[in-house]
Amino acid sequence: MELVVRNTSEVVTCDGALDGRAEDTLGRIPRGAIGVENGRVVFVGPEAELPVVSKGTIVIDARGGFVGPGFVDCHTHVVFAGDRSDEFEQRCQGKTYLEIAAAGGGIARTVTATRNATEDELVALATPRLARLRAQGVTTAEVKSGYGLDAESELRMLRAIARLGSAQPVELVATFLGLHAVPAEYKQRRDEWVRLCVDELLPVIARDRLAAACDIFVEQSAFTHDEARRLGVKARALGLPLRLHVDQLTANGGAQLAAELGAVTADHLEQISTEGIAALKHSGTIAVLAPTSTLFARAKPYAPGRALRDAGVPVALCTNCNPGSSNSENVSLAMGLACIENGLTPAEAYLGFTRIGALAISRPELGRIAVGGPADLVVFACESYRTLPYHLGMNEAAHTIKRGQRV
Ligand code: NIG
Repeated sequence: MELVVRNTSEVVTCDGALDGRAEDTLGRIPRGAIGVENGRVVFVGPEAELPVVSKGTIVIDARGGFVGPGFVDCHTHVVFAGDRSDEFEQRCQGKTYLEIAAAGGGIARTVTATRNATEDELVALATPRLARLRAQGVTTAEVKSGYGLDAESELRMLRAIARLGSAQPVELVATFLGLHAVPAEYKQRRDEWVRLCVDELLPVIARDRLAAACDIFVEQSAFTHDEARRLGVKARALGLPLRLHVDQLTANGGAQLAAELGAVTADHLEQISTEGIAALKHSGTIAVLAPTSTLFARAKPYAPGRALRDAGVPVALCTNCNPGSSNSENVSLAMGLACIENGLTPAEAYLGFTRIGALAISRPELGRIAVGGPADLVVFACESYRTLPYHLGMNEAAHTIKRGQRV
């Protein structure tokens, strides 16, 4: 074995059955140990059963902390340029996110700044954001385009994401979000922008594998159900999983649309209705909650995480790191808010950033620790996963390990 992790309080594999209680899915092994060879897990079990460690093996002493799978942040917008701290100030003074967007701020501001940035600049700006995620144990992150909103700038964003994926250790999964906002120059002919995304951009992106999924912002200030259907159907036809930002700022039946289109995820859901919860219940769609943005954008209520879980809907969590609605890379804060405000238990919140987060990006091998699976691991300084939401907003990660390498 090239690497061993020992002297843990427990290993939380997140590899139990998904259809039962969250506590069972956690698959905890008291005083567990992990062995790694060629970047894959070759042993996970009680330390007493760990095979003899040879001389060249790197041994990480967890010093009584717990070990879990690398976090998967399944919804981020970390590639962007510019700053919107003045909008934050306006929100603190009572203006809403939608009022600011209607006055020319919001996503449009970041689009202008991002269009003016070179690919090198976008890479340089996103690198420290990814480093902050990595320091907390994030080993995989999804990153969306959507701040380019013309063909050239969207492709530049996606190329920047691809470059970042090999330039630093956090594995990146790109999502095309061409329908994030109606570009200023298409305001009077929005149909043309939708057509361009459907007929020209998405086929090229799928062909060149520049994105692994397609996302759409369905909202009063963004795109309608019909527009989302047009791109969503095309994405499915091209073999790209569909994700939807829905029911975030206004209730618009978005969860029902996600179910209808067979979306892999329905993200946000602050305004989801009882019918929406019922629609998700039988759809297989994963609810992705972004509680930091509910707080930061002052867009209450918080999404009904408890009701969603109780209905049997899988719930993932994310930082939704972006310059407008969630200028935060803080995993512990998102987990804590998910418990305090969305009504999840610490076990459910932990699974939201591990096993279920991985399902949200269609990467079921991630977010769990299993023999044969990738050795993406976090060694924490605390004894229990419960400390992560409880020690609100603080970073407990001592070592982040990506494919068997300490990063
Ligand atoms: O997920 N809702 C749409 N997109 C982002 C916000 C983007 C922005 O304000 O720049 C979100 O919250």
